[in-house]
Amino acid sequence: MAIISKCLFPVAGYGTRFLPVTKAIPKEMLPILAKPLIQYGVEEAMSAGIYAIAMVTSKHKGAIKEYFQPHPEIEASVAGTSKQSSLIEINNAIAKCEFNYIQQPQQQGLGHAIYTGQPLIGNESFAVILPDDLCINDGASVLEQMCELHQQHPDCCIVAIEEVPIDEVDKYGIIDGELLGNSNTVYRVDNMLEKPTPQDAPTNLAIIGRYILTAEIFTVLAKTKADNKGEIQITDALMTLAKTGKVIAYKFQGRRFDCGSVKGFIAANTILAKENM
Ligand code: G1P
Repeated sequence: MAIISKCLFPVAGYGTRFLPVTKAIPKEMLPILAKPLIQYGVEEAMSAGIYAIAMVTSKHKGAIKEYFQPHPEIEASVAGTSKQSSLIEINNAIAKCEFNYIQQPQQQGLGHAIYTGQPLIGNESFAVILPDDLCINDGASVLEQMCELHQQHPDCCIVAIEEVPIDEVDKYGIIDGELLGNSNTVYRVDNMLEKPTPQDAPTNLAIIGRYILTAEIFTVLAKTKADNKGEIQITDALMTLAKTGKVIAYKFQGRRFDCGSVKGFIAANTILAKENM
């Protein structure tokens, strides 16, 4: 069995789309209802049986580390009250997961952030969650679905994809490929472009923030050149592997909210409030 046991969270970014709040609060700590985005991500990893959490962070993200530690004073103050239950899920995550942190000294793109996490991952396949893509499922979580697919394709990297409106392709990595066998959800990727213009985009199949990567990605990332903005893109590194047939794209089941933008974040809160409050 090809088991994924570690999940990397690249959380070093400045969150400039959420200024001014992100001057002092990491964007991953912004709440959907009362729960921070990062907790949804960690719970999705746990749903896939992953308990080793590797955070690639930066010096202004202390609140994330603090959040995944026990808080005896608050626990004592709500003990025996109706508020005690609000801490059940976070305390469960703290009890079951092992959290490790590594600092990314400067921001040089998602590929560089993932490469920075190598000492926490080692030489094995691993998952990546970008917590500002919030995925909500009734059944198996998106990462659970991908870990299952990984069993059949242990030598391949897997990216989660969904169709987006063509005028939004410039916000995403875009893939092209052939459907595998008689599947209508799994593609063998043969082309990938980071944030193309609508004219240049081969499809409207956009990568969302869930990946399963083989350890080979680290060797490729070490050789991947920065783009014209000085960023090392994971999409470019994956394209190198796609040339040898080692990248698969998976059209997942579930709902994704783009909480990396204020508009998407408000939409997620509005929709989930209607459904849950
Ligand atoms: C990153 C990736 C992009 C992907 C996106 C998903 O972009 O570079 O390929 O489609 O995440 O959220 P970012 O949103 O960090 O600019």
